[in-house]
Parts: sequence; structure tokens; C-alpha cells
Amino acid sequence: MSLKSAIFYFSQQGSTKKIAEKIAQGLKYEGNSCKLFSFTKISQDLNLISGLDFREYQLIGFGTPVCYFHPPYHLIEVLESLPDLSQAKGFLFCTSGGNPGATLYKIKKILDKKGLKIIDGYDRWIGLDQHRCYSHFKESSLPSSLGHPNQKELEEAKQFGVSLISKALNPKTPEKLDFWSKDNKWAQGGWKGRPEPFMEKWFPEFHLNKEKCSKCGQCAENCPAEAIILDPYPKWVKDCDRCYLCDLYCPEQAIECDWTKQCAFMENILQRAKKHIY
Ligand SMILES: Cc1cc2nc3c(=O)[nH]c(=O)nc-3n(C[C@H](O)[C@H](O)[C@H](O)COP(=O)(O)O)c2cc1C
Repeated sequence: MSLKSAIFYFSQQGSTKKIAEKIAQGLKYEGNSCKLFSFTKISQDLNLISGLDFREYQLIGFGTPVCYFHPPYHLIEVLESLPDLSQAKGFLFCTSGGNPGATLYKIKKILDKKGLKIIDGYDRWIGLDQHRCYSHFKESSLPSSLGHPNQKELEEAKQFGVSLISKALNPKTPEKLDFWSKDNKWAQGGWKGRPEPFMEKWFPEFHLNKEKCSKCGQCAENCPAEAIILDPYPKWVKDCDRCYLCDLYCPEQAIECDWTKQCAFMENILQRAKKHIY
């Protein structure tokens, strides 16, 4: 019997996409099929899921980057809008800079409500971490994340995909519960699965320099949460993940954030970690 699977992934800067593609490659082993769907921004994602017949798939996977120890907020909204998925089995994965927190636990809690039985998951793949608080480093990234996901991780992702085929086809495969420890402090609490509501607020506010801004709309276009409108200048109209893609993609560098405190804090942590290790 062959397996029809689908993977839905969100990827801001490409790492989760690379892992998703490798898992899909594995899931296509020996004539099985796997369709990849990319989440991009909230209204498009809602459109995408409303136009799909999920009953076509026996196995459905979800992948995301970790965003302050949880799934990005807009992705939570999209997942909450999924239809009943009780006919399928599921699996989860994420990429992170090294601390995925309770990301997959949070996603599982949402998908439990959709009846999706999660049979596997993996949260240890590292992705290139280009959070803006590392922009003062050479190559503008968390140094330990450079080169990730690497060949070993990509091969692991492919093998993970291959291993899912027999698990999905075996009706006796148990639900995966052990991976998301109940003792994980990051998994506790929170409205809508938001355990760390303070976290993104610690990062800088957006300040628009109107003299530099050309009102081109790139910031709004690239905001996955659709938190920015042009009026006629960019205006932040709802809480967002503070992923700073708006800042990253602004061609005029008109979004000015004061990173002094955060860069110093991260630098300090990394120095201490270095001393501890060597
Ligand atoms: C806004 C933001 C928050 C992040 N939060 C975390 C975090 O809490 N823990 C972590 O290990 N990595 C964190 N990262 C790093 C990303 O999860 C990691 O680089 C991921 O691989 C990016 O995937 P992508 O390239 O598919 O977008 C964060 C990155 C950004 C931009």
C-alpha cells in the first residue's frame, strides 16, 4: 500500500524549507507521494487551507522555525483554523538556533483539538539564526548556527521522512507523547498557547524614520503577521512576533530599532558560554 502525505511548513529565511524538502524526499521513497505546501502570511495561508481537501492525505506534517521558544503567533492562528484532521496521522518538526523551547508541544496541543494523531516529531535541527540581535556579528548570524542545517542534518531529515512511511502505514503506531515533556517549563501556561508573552516585548519597538521612508510597502509585504498597513506611511496595527523582517527588507533602512541593550545582552551570554565550554 502506498502512502499519500503532505507537509505544511513556514520558513522565514530558508532553513525550515530545506529540512521540509528533505523530509518530503524521504517520504517519496519507493513510489510514495508527498506534497509540499509553504505557509507565507496569514490571509494567504487561510486561503490555502480553506481550498484544500485534507482527506486526501493519510499523513500530514507541520514544520516551523522557533520564534522566542514558541511557534510564530500567526502560524498559531492558521493552525487553529484547520478543519478536522482525525482521518490522518501527523508529525511535527522545527528548526531553531538551539533552544526550541516548547514549540512542538504547543503545536501538538492545537492539533490535538483537530483530532490529528501525532506519531512522530523532531525539534533538534539547527537553522541559520539571523535574528537582528546578532546583526553586529560577522555574517550577521548567531555564530554557532553558521552552516546549519548541515549535510548531516539534511540526511537525517531525509531518513526521518523514510522512517515515517512504515509508521504511518502501521495502524498500531502509538501516538508520540514522550517528546513533549509535561515538565518542560516552556510548555506551561498562557492564553492561545503563548507561554512567554513578555519575550518579544523585550526586543526593541519599531521607529519609522519618515525622512528615509519611500512608502514602498516592502515592510507590509514581508510581514507574515500582516501587522503593518500603509497609511500612507507604514503603521503597526497589531501585535506581531517581532521577527524584524520589516526592518530586514526595508530598502531605505527607514525602520530604526535600538538594539544596544539586546546586542550587549546576547554578547555577554555568548562570552560566558564560551568560557564555560573552553
Ligand atoms: C524572531 C526570531 C525569534 C527566534 N527565537 C528563537 C528561539 O527562541 N530559540 C531558538 O533556538 N532560535 C530562535 N530563533 C532562530 C530561528 O528559530 C532559527 O534560525 C530557524 O532555523 C529559522 O528558520 P527559517 O530559516 O526557516 O526561518 C529565532 C529567530 C527569529 C528571527
